[in-house]
Amino acid sequence: MRIYKAKDYADMSRKAANIISAQVIIKPNSVLGLATGSSPIGAYRQLIEWYRKGDVDFRKVTSINLDEYRGLPQSDPQSYSYFMHQYFFDHVNVCPQNIHIPDGMAPDPQEECRRYDTLIQACGGIDLQLLGIGHNGHIGFNEPGEAFEKRTHCVSLSSSTIEANKRFFDNEESVPRQAYTMGMRSIMQAKQILLIVSGEEKAEIVKEAFCGPVTPQVPASALQLHNNVTLVGDQAALSLIPDGGIDE
Ligand code: GLP
Repeated sequence: MRIYKAKDYADMSRKAANIISAQVIIKPNSVLGLATGSSPIGAYRQLIEWYRKGDVDFRKVTSINLDEYRGLPQSDPQSYSYFMHQYFFDHVNVCPQNIHIPDGMAPDPQEECRRYDTLIQACGGIDLQLLGIGHNGHIGFNEPGEAFEKRTHCVSLSSSTIEANKRFFDNEESVPRQAYTMGMRSIMQAKQILLIVSGEEKAEIVKEAFCGPVTPQVPASALQLHNNVTLVGDQAALSLIPDGGIDE
């Protein structure tokens, strides 16, 4: 695993955007697994800037998002579909037909999960999977549990995730209780994984995930078993990693 220690959020975002744009430049028809949350917003901004300058082109890219709240339509400003359009897709030239996000309004959850796994396979798997990490070690919405959930599934969100995500909603009651998430198999089968993290409040879980035992109680710990993971974190988030990461 490569660890890049960034000075701050802006530096983390630029380093992450560098890795993503390198992937797209080397392979213009890359399949990108994309993520939401506060962590990737800066990287998306940086990619938009480079796109506007003509340095990176998303015309042939396919994007497959990690997760979506169940019960929110795409038009809901809290949906991950809305987020992705607002912070990225509306500003670059990814073709609309190449954008894939679980459908929060699908009438049959099991069928929606099957559809999504089939889609990931049909795209030939993921070249680069971008991830954030939840305070409880979740990736996507793969919550701590007794076993790693391999396939796309509909998950009941843990109280700590509802608590952490309520900042985006009017109040805690408005946070959907369920979500669709890509499973651990699709994430682990990605050729390259880029996890970005910032802030002191994530330092403890970063240490648990990357220095502790591999356990489904900390879903991100499975990444220790992947052979091409890059962790880009700011100093605060990496402060409890023993060697402090590798300065560039
Ligand atoms: C949400 C998302 C995750 C994301 C996590 C961390 O729960 N489902 O994909 O990684 O939050 O978000 P943030 O980057 O805002 O801390």
